[in-house]
Amino acid sequence: MSKFVVAIDGGAGSGKSTTARGVAKRLNFFYLDTGAMYRAFTLKYLQNRHKSEDRINMELVERLLIDTTIELRQENGETRVYLDGDDVTLAIRTPEVSGFVSQVSAIPDVRVWMVAKQRGIAEGKNVVCEGRDIGTVVFPDAQVKIFMQADLKTRTERRLKELAEKKITTDTEEVAENLKFRDKYDSGRAHSPLKKADDAIVVDTTDLTIEQEIKLVRKIVEERFRSQTGG
Ligand code: DC
Repeated sequence: MSKFVVAIDGGAGSGKSTTARGVAKRLNFFYLDTGAMYRAFTLKYLQNRHKSEDRINMELVERLLIDTTIELRQENGETRVYLDGDDVTLAIRTPEVSGFVSQVSAIPDVRVWMVAKQRGIAEGKNVVCEGRDIGTVVFPDAQVKIFMQADLKTRTERRLKELAEKKITTDTEEVAENLKFRDKYDSGRAHSPLKKADDAIVVDTTDLTIEQEIKLVRKIVEERFRSQTGG
């Protein structure tokens, strides 16, 4: 069992990652980025598929799932993502992966595989876990559930800035379209869609700075942590 779980869900670019990372760092919890895991598997699928196939090749997906390792390693205060032993931290953020990840994430067997891994990673740890189905499916008993949202303009600006920092070239329209497409696809899928858990606290980050959103969520977590542990 995990010790204390903070589940943060929300749409693409809602501020989840920055907040989850910041809160985990300040509270010394493990930061579990489940989107990075879906992205890593998508990268592997793209590397192995035939370019001419535009439909998802389910046989290939099943074959790859049997033989894939994804690790999240905390190195020098940051999380690095390893796919079959290779560091793919940067490679999973390209527009190509972003353009394909929703389709791969909608496959039920991929989700079952991921959820088992995510629970395994969290075992025995205090974690801040972020994604789309964390409060609803992965950790329905999480001690704190947050659902983050922000308007599209703000989310697009944030994503553009993040990509520029990683020196990944793209343009405003492509980013906005991808955010819209993924939210629609992620919310509309049959298996564990992006959805606010009934008992989640909604945090709208449109008018908040990064510092403000981290502070707000940290305060919620600390209060709950103290009342549960008496510490
Ligand atoms: O958090 P992110 O934008 O890096 O996530 C990438 C994609 O992965 C997202 O569009 C849908 C999928 N995802 C998911 O289906 N379930 C999760 N728990 C996390 C991500």
